[in-house]
Amino acid sequence: MTMKKEFNRTLVTCALPYANGPVHIGHLAGVYVPADIYVRYQRMKGTDVLFVCGSDEHGVPITIKARAEGCSPQDIVDRYHKLIKDSFTGLGINFDIYSRTSSKIHAETSSDFFRKLYDEGKFITRESEQYFDPEAKTFLADRYIVGTCPKCGHEGAYGDQCENCGSTLSPEELLNPVSRLSGAVPVKKKTTHWYLPLDKYQEWLSSWILDGHKEWRSTVYGQCKSWLDGGLQPRAVSRDLDWGVPVPVEGAEGKVLYVWFDAPIGYISNTKELLPSSWEKWWKSEDTRLVHFIGKDNIVFHCIVFPSMLKAHGGYILADNVPANEFLNLEGDKISTSRGWAVWAHEYLQAFPDKADVMRYVLTANAPETKDNDFSWKEFQTRNNSELVAIFGNFVNRAAVLTHKYFGGKVPALGELQEADRAALDELPKLRASLEANLEAFRFRDALRDAMGIARVGNKYISDTEPWKVAKTDMARTGTILNVCLQICANLAVAFEPFTPFSCEKLRNILRVTLDAGQDYRAGEGEPTENFYKDGEAAALHARRHGKMLFSPGLPLLTWDMLGRSDILAEGHVLGEPVLLFEKIEDAPIDAQIARLEAIKAEKEAAAKAALAKQVEPQKSPVSFDDFGKMDIRTATVLEAERVPKTDKLLKLTIDTGIDKRVIVSGIAEYYTPEQMVGKQICILANLQPRTIRGIESQGMILMAKQGDGSMRFITPQEAVTNGAVIG
Ligand code: MF3
Ligand code: ZN
Repeated sequence: MTMKKEFNRTLVTCALPYANGPVHIGHLAGVYVPADIYVRYQRMKGTDVLFVCGSDEHGVPITIKARAEGCSPQDIVDRYHKLIKDSFTGLGINFDIYSRTSSKIHAETSSDFFRKLYDEGKFITRESEQYFDPEAKTFLADRYIVGTCPKCGHEGAYGDQCENCGSTLSPEELLNPVSRLSGAVPVKKKTTHWYLPLDKYQEWLSSWILDGHKEWRSTVYGQCKSWLDGGLQPRAVSRDLDWGVPVPVEGAEGKVLYVWFDAPIGYISNTKELLPSSWEKWWKSEDTRLVHFIGKDNIVFHCIVFPSMLKAHGGYILADNVPANEFLNLEGDKISTSRGWAVWAHEYLQAFPDKADVMRYVLTANAPETKDNDFSWKEFQTRNNSELVAIFGNFVNRAAVLTHKYFGGKVPALGELQEADRAALDELPKLRASLEANLEAFRFRDALRDAMGIARVGNKYISDTEPWKVAKTDMARTGTILNVCLQICANLAVAFEPFTPFSCEKLRNILRVTLDAGQDYRAGEGEPTENFYKDGEAAALHARRHGKMLFSPGLPLLTWDMLGRSDILAEGHVLGEPVLLFEKIEDAPIDAQIARLEAIKAEKEAAAKAALAKQVEPQKSPVSFDDFGKMDIRTATVLEAERVPKTDKLLKLTIDTGIDKRVIVSGIAEYYTPEQMVGKQICILANLQPRTIRGIESQGMILMAKQGDGSMRFITPQEAVTNGAVIG
């Protein structure tokens, strides 16, 4: 039996988003919203917690985007770093630091990290043959090579993947490979790289994860197990590239640290940047609990590679948990950034200003924790209108408005409790217990359901007790009911703070209470601790974290500890003005979002059709010259054309064949109107056995070109020729 570890602080990291595009709802649901919920909860509980993130600014895709736009990689990362950072702020993702891996401190930190492993002989080197561009005089990352896909024949396949058929490729498999840099034919050239021999960490990883962390999510544990069962191989930690942290070794010109080597070290660099004098306690003390929030595509890097790097280095703590999420789909389809099939965070904030909480709520209610889930705009609207507005918002509004109406906005006295009152209040500690257990276990959907459970209890209670009716006869009883309602409102202000922080700020203003939002206020009497003022670092941290003081001296303080209690608001406490916490979302903005997605879908379908039209049939088996000679193919002109009644496809054409006038029934009505056909010169197979089609004798066949999508075009001579001219 292992003892459960005792922790004194919690360090929470979120996967560093690549600064080569904006973040979308898949990122938010998978990583950032759950992490922020967890951190807000820990802060309220008084845990010493630090929340670290930043942009991942290296890697090949950034250099490719820069090249495509004719700017520098730095321009790209500057643009997206700002966009992403602002999106997080807009959504209330409240990092203690959001920095970037192009920072100086990160170059130093990651460089020193590599150097230590290098000096201690923790790497192996391997020579391999890599494609090299002889004109640009540089090695080519797989993505920098294009050629013909060996699987589907698509001509723009990349050296790592064909986007037409989805196959994973290696550059060696491409037919006719060329460099995207210069168009030159790449040549093979020897290059040497450093590798971390993960195989040497295999046994240690197995016992750390498979024996030591059976409590990890089964999806995470399962992925680790299958990597470990498959046997680990050495992994390259350097690349031939000119964008990144240079490999700090003599003779390594033109080489940089592989992005997956430097990026996770970014967690450490960013902590250092924020807390230059005390960062080590967050990374090197066994009593720090480290939690990585990531998406499932990052599991191997955070559970296998990064821990092996930390182990090789020595002195660092390892993750205690890695609550990776599955993926979020959008309206039934995989999110695709290249196709624009996504809801971008910054665009959402523009289209729905002041509705960050609604998105946080919907993404949590539907979080892809145990399986991939789907986001739909209709569900978004429904969850807002019939949950946030109709239950949570409606309850709070009724309680506040009635208190103003009957008691001048003062919390009325609690009289003798009746059965209904007790039943409602008894639910609060139960829901708190469940909410906490779920938050601790990273089950945020369930946790949100518990928080919403409090609102449901309140909404039902006020509907059942009908204080607006009781007020006609019994003011004391009305007061008791509203006191109970207001205590439930105060519970909501605590329980929802991790999920919907903007609305909870409104709710605190309605209740005229303030929040203990972090360890900076450990005194608990509503005064910042002495330590808070003495420790310049903590003060800076606080300012950065909150932007402003959440805490207003003189107001009753809400703490997590109060959750479940029915005496949070004292009799006589004066409330603030009631405002609506949530607003109904009408159809129009939802329809606009759906229309945008439908346009993308239509575009995709058109592209798929165009691709299909281009497909050609394979050649048929050979025929003899004699066989060919038996076919009487000649030119003719359409004299009359009419639809064959009661059919969609058939035209009856009267044609001049040069030999005679005759009738041919042809299946071209889908593509040509009768008017379009009259006067056209065409080609026919004249000696096809006559057939009767819909009661009309058809004497021959019109030659048509049939395209890959089944559509047809008739064949017409380039220049007018005599009717009856033989084709052969
Ligand atoms: N940029 C990576 C991604 O978006 C995540 C990097 S996480 C880190 O998939 F640990 F490497 F920083
Ligand atoms: Zn292909």
